[in-house]
Amino acid sequence: MPDRNLAANRLLAVTEEELQRIVLDIHDGPVQNLFAAMSQLTVLRSQLSGLQPPPDECLATINRTISLLEISLGDIRDLLGTFRAPEFVGSELPEIIEDIVIQHESFTSSSVTLEMRKPFPQSVSLQVKIAICRILQESLSNIRRHAGVENASVTLRMEKNHIILEVSDQGRGFEPPPLNGPYATEKQEHIGLRGMRERAALVGGELTVESRPGAGTRVHVEIPIHE
Ligand SMILES: Nc1ncnc2c1ncn2[C@@H]1O[C@H](COP(=O)(O)OP(=O)(O)OP(=O)(O)O)[C@@H](O)[C@H]1O
Ligand SMILES: [Mg+2]
Repeated sequence: MPDRNLAANRLLAVTEEELQRIVLDIHDGPVQNLFAAMSQLTVLRSQLSGLQPPPDECLATINRTISLLEISLGDIRDLLGTFRAPEFVGSELPEIIEDIVIQHESFTSSSVTLEMRKPFPQSVSLQVKIAICRILQESLSNIRRHAGVENASVTLRMEKNHIILEVSDQGRGFEPPPLNGPYATEKQEHIGLRGMRERAALVGGELTVESRPGAGTRVHVEIPIHE
């Protein structure tokens, strides 16, 4: 059993490291090139507008291309921001959660009601912090993309040596696939939900999703900690 935990912790750390590497690679590679392409097009636009008569059709195409590049760069920036690594090591869990919530609100101009009940969990391991953060980020991102509402609620509390995190919305809801047990989903289209389930399981926790069409969604995760 201890060996399994060790392996699971290593897997979680590697996954996080890889994620940050992907974020950096995208930021340093394709994003820089897209910016460069956009400035080249801006130069071309001013050269063409100096011609007599100005080639209006070409200019219109260039303007549309510049707009598309601007939108794509904005989207990529939002996405990379979502996966920015919070300061896990030196910060306590409530601070990290607050940080993610504030960041989500500013990126999406939506509002999140945050309730963190004392006593706060003490000496939470790095692996548990990472798991909770990623589950929170994915749940908030799902609300933004699928729930059709501008508000989300997040609560954090302790119950008998378990950290409990709940992320809920009053949005359109859905039929959640089974996440645990023999019929648990392994479908590609549930990769976000499966990822949350796996992150909880890797730290000995369990994740459930309660939802119904028209009745909102609640993601509930319980993770044991040893204080
Ligand atoms: N809060 C929510 N409100 C309404 N529907 C939701 C909510 N969360 C998830 N869903 C539904 O469950 C589906 C699966 O979610 P999941 O996170 O696994 O994938 P995704 O968000 O579509 O894609 P990905 O997370 O891979 O970018 C979503 O496509 C959506 O239909
Ligand atoms: Mg998702």
